[in-house]
Amino acid sequence: MRTQVCIIGGGPSGLLLSQLLHLKGIDTVVLERKSRDYVLGRIRAGVLEFGMIELLREAGVGARMDRQGLIHDGAFIALQNRGFRIDFKKLTDKQVMVYGQTEVTRDLYEARDEWDAPTVFDVRAVNPQGIDTDAPFVTYLQGGKVHRIDCDFVAGCDGFHGVSRAAIPADVRREYERVYPFGWLGVLSATPPVSHEIIYANHPRGFALCSMRNLNLSRYYIQTPVDDPLEGWSDAAFWDELKRRIPESAADKIVTGPSIEKSIAPLRSFVSEPMRWGRLFLVGDAAHIVPPTGAKGLNLAASDVRYLYHGLTRHYLDHDDHELEQYSEKALARVWKATRFSWWFTNIMHRFPDQSEFDQRMQETELAFLETSRAAQTVLAENYVGLPY
Ligand code: APR
Ligand code: PHB
Repeated sequence: MRTQVCIIGGGPSGLLLSQLLHLKGIDTVVLERKSRDYVLGRIRAGVLEFGMIELLREAGVGARMDRQGLIHDGAFIALQNRGFRIDFKKLTDKQVMVYGQTEVTRDLYEARDEWDAPTVFDVRAVNPQGIDTDAPFVTYLQGGKVHRIDCDFVAGCDGFHGVSRAAIPADVRREYERVYPFGWLGVLSATPPVSHEIIYANHPRGFALCSMRNLNLSRYYIQTPVDDPLEGWSDAAFWDELKRRIPESAADKIVTGPSIEKSIAPLRSFVSEPMRWGRLFLVGDAAHIVPPTGAKGLNLAASDVRYLYHGLTRHYLDHDDHELEQYSEKALARVWKATRFSWWFTNIMHRFPDQSEFDQRMQETELAFLETSRAAQTVLAENYVGLPY
């Protein structure tokens, strides 16, 4: 088989890139290791920057998002029994939208159905080859047979555990990593959200987050030791702990219910450079991971997609490789800024096991400054709604 861009990974990065290129008449094939149902069963974050909202509309998949997504003008920072609000709209004239990654992915798969897009599921042993030549190809196993796709470019959209990153020679690749000494225990429940805006709570017992997917579906998280056994967390224990970490006014009115999904996610910052090697481009989680504080992961994937989509469009339609040449540099500049923001927001909101009294005072002072300085709030808001592309 032959295609123009072979896309490894059918998560949001791979699907969005394929959809945008299709609208420009550029051929792609998407290779996905799992099944469609498996991909659509994953629960991930759900806050879209305004730039990502526009990109989804441009890709022709914005209709349901525009009907069902919830526009948020701000968010709350809670400090034990009090707190303050950051007004994104007032400070930046921009907003964000709460619309789950699962829904974005569903819309992208449904859009693919309409043009019979080539997606190969349940592939094994995917192997990008010849990426430093003019004739790259990807081999994979399916149904006990080896298949080969010849292409012009390979897009590695296969997430943190994919194979694409390792196709860049080890002596070329540089990896930067910070692993945080805690995780997030998340619960999804079919209950109305406690607040119409997201609450980020700093508490001596640990961080907590009140979020939502829609008006009848809530998403809550609490900081836990990363090796805490999930079995130890009954629904009742989770609600109990969450209520202790959020202001009483919220704890008193929270509607609890059985968890639909419950999992513990580790927190990590990770960046791999460069994001291009020969004819291979890394996109999204394949090249970088941020801790979920600030919900930047999906939005960073979207900005990578945007840069690559523009570069490939210029290549095919205008025979101009300038943007493609700049992909890695441009994408990484934005990645590092979001990495910094997510790292900072994580640092000021969590209890670290080895936090000294000095560290504790610094954290309190960061929050006090944030509460009282319009400039500091603007910095947070600017990052939260999404830095320019
Ligand atoms: N071959 C084919 N597909 C693969 C392979 C492989 N070797 N390895 C992984 N995949 C698939 C995964 O099954 C998954 O569906 O690649 C997809 C990668 O999807 P994500 O992990 O969701 O990554 P990405 O598409 O970059 O999405 C952006 O940002 O912070 C996050 O939560 C956010 O998951 C979101 C991500
Ligand atoms: C979520 O709704 O899952 C969510 C919201 C905000 C975050 C992280 C996750 O910072």
